[in-house]
Amino acid sequence: MSDAPEESITRRIFVRTGIAAAGACYAAAMGYPVFQYLAAAAQKAEAESAVKEVILNDVEKLPAPSALMFKFGGHPALLIHHADKSWTALSAVCTHLGCTVEYDPHQERIACACHGGVYNPHTGGNVSGPPPKPLTLFHVVVADGKAVVSRV
Ligand code: FES
Repeated sequence: MSDAPEESITRRIFVRTGIAAAGACYAAAMGYPVFQYLAAAAQKAEAESAVKEVILNDVEKLPAPSALMFKFGGHPALLIHHADKSWTALSAVCTHLGCTVEYDPHQERIACACHGGVYNPHTGGNVSGPPPKPLTLFHVVVADGKAVVSRV
């Protein structure tokens, strides 16, 4: 009879330890996929930001005014051939909430259909609507039918 309390305490400690171990295993099982997902996303973002230049072929076929949508480091971008034959390249990711913007040659503007944001197609400047800042402008050189688009 005298060692019944000790046995009870030992059993209590054993049960608590078992529950803690089960909890740790559960947390590891739930956390590992999340860790894998976040690590892959960080790796992808790093690879995308490492892209410094994109070369687009046959751009002489792009009538003026019109635009070509392309990927720059995994994100949508626009190469615009203006009516005055000049060229502009900019990010097509709206600075408001990240929708993809489109060039409107008839109104000579870049518009975001999500919330009505409007940008200047020459500078990327935010003209009206909710976008808080300009589109990212890229450096573009067109020669021999190729456009070399790079980060400014
Ligand atoms: S996401 Fe473009 S205006 Fe809101």
